[in-house]
Amino acid sequence: MSPVKKRGVVVLISGTGSNFAAILRHSQAPDSAFFISAVISNRADAKGLDYAKAANIPFCVCMHENYDSRIAFDAQVQRLIDAFEPHLVVLAGFMRILSDEFVQHYQGRLINIHPALLPKFKGLNTHQRALDAKEPEHGASVHFVNEDLDSGAVIAQSRVPVLADDDADSLAKRVLVEEHRLYPLVVQWFCQGRLRLEDAQTYFDNQPLTQAYQLECTINNE
Ligand code: GRF
Repeated sequence: MSPVKKRGVVVLISGTGSNFAAILRHSQAPDSAFFISAVISNRADAKGLDYAKAANIPFCVCMHENYDSRIAFDAQVQRLIDAFEPHLVVLAGFMRILSDEFVQHYQGRLINIHPALLPKFKGLNTHQRALDAKEPEHGASVHFVNEDLDSGAVIAQSRVPVLADDDADSLAKRVLVEEHRLYPLVVQWFCQGRLRLEDAQTYFDNQPLTQAYQLECTINNE
């Protein structure tokens, strides 16, 4: 029997790249349904690029300040991505608002991770906002990207408790551990063909996903 064909994934980063690193680690497992075709960063000093260099993954730096407009920058990123013909495009801490044209081009094959339990706390400073709102729990969500910020169909979430002595940093660390469990899993599902978006509805194993999949909790109180 011939081995199952692995799918290519392009990852977009801007900074630390710890989610990229988690996805990369998963891709190196024998049963991974995907490989990383390339990494694209809008910052030359993104630490996450070191993971790509160490693993001999093709990477490109495309600096937004060198472009006259969002549309021009996005069009260049699109050209770079499409040269690798990926099955899926993964935003992993890519700190850019994307144009409608870009989002529409990758509709149904563009996903993002957001450090909150969407639809709560779209946008920035999610950990502090969860603390200020006295939320008993917080977490991370992986969603398909649509034209509105952090508003696409939520695929899966992982939850953590908010502890009495948490500050934004301790909470962020606890959520990040969950992000690293959650994101590779969703990429794997998509590349296995288990996940698809049709008319803004997510299907998981051919069934409409009426609620985001909830990742099983681990004891994670660090
Ligand atoms: C993560 O918290 C992710 O949820 C958010 O940006 C952060 C990126 O972290 N979108 P890293 O660069 O993957 O370490």
